[in-house]
Amino acid sequence: MTVHLVGAGPGDPQLLTLRAARLLEEADVVVHDRLVAPEILQLIGPAARVIDVGKTPGLSHSQSLINKLLIELSREHEVVVRLKGGDPFVFGRGGEECEALRAACVGVEVVPGITSALAGPLLAGVPVTHRGLSHGVTIVTGTAMRGAGVDFHALANADLTLVVLMGVERRMDIARDLQDGGLSADTAVAIIERASTPHQRTLRCRLEDLAHLDVSAPAVIVVGAVASLELSVDLEAMTLGV
Ligand SMILES: C[S@@+](CC[C@H](N)C(=O)[O-])C[C@H]1O[C@@H](n2cnc3c(N)ncnc32)[C@H](O)[C@@H]1O
Repeated sequence: MTVHLVGAGPGDPQLLTLRAARLLEEADVVVHDRLVAPEILQLIGPAARVIDVGKTPGLSHSQSLINKLLIELSREHEVVVRLKGGDPFVFGRGGEECEALRAACVGVEVVPGITSALAGPLLAGVPVTHRGLSHGVTIVTGTAMRGAGVDFHALANADLTLVVLMGVERRMDIARDLQDGGLSADTAVAIIERASTPHQRTLRCRLEDLAHLDVSAPAVIVVGAVASLELSVDLEAMTLGV
């Protein structure tokens, strides 16, 4: 009995690992989240049962019911794939699922995925580290559970890049706390919506304008000097000599 906990990457099927693509072909059952791209779900073999736990009534908000479902499925099927957007261990609750499966004596294989936290900025031409501009990168969640969240005052550091996932709703508080913590109102910000999909869109602004920007989730927010860079290369234009 093994559950394969598989990272689906940010959306573009070409960014799946070979292992992930193979498991989707071989799966008897695939349990997936809301953010997994439809193009990736098309790679699942025709005979497989597909369960969307982002939409299934009763399961959409209950991690313990999802854990229970995975344990049950592992007893009924040979190849059970738990498919998660990005990387399963980056804000994907993959660790919790792993613990629950292990506690029920179910084997787990974890297949890494390309996280939107790094692929999002890259696909917008933003290197999260860059000599002379950023010594490192911090990845955090923008959500606050029951009022308690990341201390953005403490993260205000002009030498580091800050990447915020799930931060669209609270962007006003995040921008205010970072400025209260000492970051300049002029600090560059890039927001990448739906990275790697045909709907990818990049917006750029100064930190003090972030609250007023019209942004929609899912999006990655990058704060720091690197966010002003735009290093993506238009290969088609190069080939055509444009
Ligand atoms: C619950 S977290 C899961 C992160 C995922 N495990 C990963 O490694 O990318 C969901 C958040 O990831 C970000 N996200 C996921 N896919 C994205 C995409 N294609 N473009 C932009 N942001 C994305 C958004 O911030 C979204 O709110």
